Amino acid sequence: MDGAVQTVNCDDGTTMQVRRLSDVMGAEVTGVDLSKPLTPALKNAIMAAFLEHHLLAFRGQDLSPEAQHAFTKHFGDIEGHVARLPDGEKLPLVHVVNNLGPDGKPTAQPHSTGNYFWHTDKSYHDVPSLATLLHALELPPKGGDTLFCNTYRAYESLSDARKTQLANLRAVHSWEASRRNTGNQPASEQQKRERPPVSHPVVRTHPDTGRKLLYIGIHTSHIEGMPEADGKALLDELLEHAAQDAHVYRHEWHEGDLCMWDNRCLLHRADDNYDMGQHRRVLHRTVVRGTVPY
Ligand code: OGA
Ligand code: MN
Repeated sequence: MDGAVQTVNCDDGTTMQVRRLSDVMGAEVTGVDLSKPLTPALKNAIMAAFLEHHLLAFRGQDLSPEAQHAFTKHFGDIEGHVARLPDGEKLPLVHVVNNLGPDGKPTAQPHSTGNYFWHTDKSYHDVPSLATLLHALELPPKGGDTLFCNTYRAYESLSDARKTQLANLRAVHSWEASRRNTGNQPASEQQKRERPPVSHPVVRTHPDTGRKLLYIGIHTSHIEGMPEADGKALLDELLEHAAQDAHVYRHEWHEGDLCMWDNRCLLHRADDNYDMGQHRRVLHRTVVRGTVPY
């Protein structure tokens, strides 16, 4: 379902056009230049659209890393990272998501494949992320999409018995489990010290909308107070339920897109639906810190 264009007039005289991208979530935003200073009125209009649509795709953005940093900061603190670059260096606050090898050429064996599994960014933090912003600089001619899952709908479509069963459960999330679940190089001892396991409610209440949602994904290992295998089986089942087509939106990127999504009520994953060894895919990423889930 592609919606009609809605024109949003901000108090400062600017207007932005918002067009719904699918029934599940998402809106395309045009008429704004994110490299310009953000007025409070425009910020409020963006925040309202963000809460309504969960994912905003600002088209045609020409943003330096500094400009992306400045825009991101309006929404909260920018996160540091436990992941490391191939040379062991820490990631900068504005960092690059790409499929390039050490020689700078596209590779079908990327350094990390964690992004190809359903997750919500930094759920292994005690204070997980509010939003992630990805700015598409270079894209394959076709494919290289990102899939997004609406976890409000995932929760709402559960049976009443299941909702009751989940009401007070807490899932354990960790960097270590994430690396294990995704078949990546195991977490180092230092990374385990930096990011010890944390637990979050399986049914989370969105702090801005008050709506309930399923807060799960590939960073989880088990459920507190439940035999590990049973907890894992339940989490796997919930993830499969969440990620059914009826809850998923596929974002086909345009160069210049700046996508900003709500990590509190969406899961996401990259799709390797392109020839990764052949074509470059390069995006700039910033992550906004959120609040403790309840
Ligand atoms: C991320 C992420 C997916 C993609 O940047 O957090 O999961 O499609 N990216 O690159
Ligand atoms: Mn991610």
